[in-house]
Amino acid sequence: MAINRQLGAAVFSASFFYILRQILCKVSQLLGKGTGFGKVILFNEHFVVYGLPAIVSAIGAKTEASVERSEGLGVELRDERPETPGYKNEKSGQQKESLKIMLNFMNIDVQHAHFMVTLRGDLIAASGVGASAASCAAIARAFSDELGLNYSDEKVNEVAYEGEKGYHGTPSGIDNTAATYGGLIWYRREGSLPVMERMRLRKPIEIVMGNTGMVANTKVVVGGVKERREKDPEKYTRIFKQADQLVRDAKHHLALDDLEKVGACMNGNHRLLQEIGVSCPELDELVELSRNNGALGAKLTGTGRGGYMVALTPGQELQSRIAKEIERKGFQALRTTIGI
Ligand code: MEV
Repeated sequence: MAINRQLGAAVFSASFFYILRQILCKVSQLLGKGTGFGKVILFNEHFVVYGLPAIVSAIGAKTEASVERSEGLGVELRDERPETPGYKNEKSGQQKESLKIMLNFMNIDVQHAHFMVTLRGDLIAASGVGASAASCAAIARAFSDELGLNYSDEKVNEVAYEGEKGYHGTPSGIDNTAATYGGLIWYRREGSLPVMERMRLRKPIEIVMGNTGMVANTKVVVGGVKERREKDPEKYTRIFKQADQLVRDAKHHLALDDLEKVGACMNGNHRLLQEIGVSCPELDELVELSRNNGALGAKLTGTGRGGYMVALTPGQELQSRIAKEIERKGFQALRTTIGI
């Protein structure tokens, strides 16, 4: 009798868990899903806004979006990404604006349906790693998946570019391009057209990205460069010329796998970014620290005035040494690779 009861309980619990698993599987199949890569700009952030070429690489960390239809009307966004404290709060207005622009661009009617959009993944929501662009590309893919829109990468990139406008008015399109396509990319904007060329490395190269923990406002920092450039066009013409030459040199050295020279170009690029006023003491400190401990080169990456810096640290030993030094100073370090 007791054995029969035990057997019955075992059969019941096995069937219960089987049914639960089936339901969970079904639910997860019903969600539209999409991902977007985080990125590191290796050369020429800011200059790229004015049509100069830049080099960007996707990194290992990604944002994942899911879209679920349910009862009701409108759209809700649940942001479960890990973050630099304060980032989500600071960006929440821009995030809402961005989602509105993307839904409009994709012709998705939220007056007659309800969508729950959820963001997750291992990319930290922070300045400098392409967090907004990764989320835009992931959301575009998730809606395409949910609604059977069958978007090509090109279309995802277009939607993500529109979404980026919610975060700052005049995006160059470099971040959404890296978020959509991944890999290592030579990028420039020709008028309204994005032009990209894939670059190949012999093997992925280790880098360390140091996080200042400060949230940057891209709109404000990009606007500041514009203002200063208008006030002193001569100085800016000289700097822009150097930035144009420097990124071409860097491309050449990357193709030859001459990492010492690539590192020197990164140092030169950081100097130019300092000259246009987008660095800050915390970024300069992490850049100096990395160079003093053997990084082949280091610079701020992305918007600047906070956010991340990047150090070129080929080999796991050097990468680990630099990351530990950054952490010893109380900053977060992201160990990743470029050219994946
Ligand atoms: C931000 O990641 C890069 C900037 O050059 C802005 C842009 O390209 O749109 C600062």
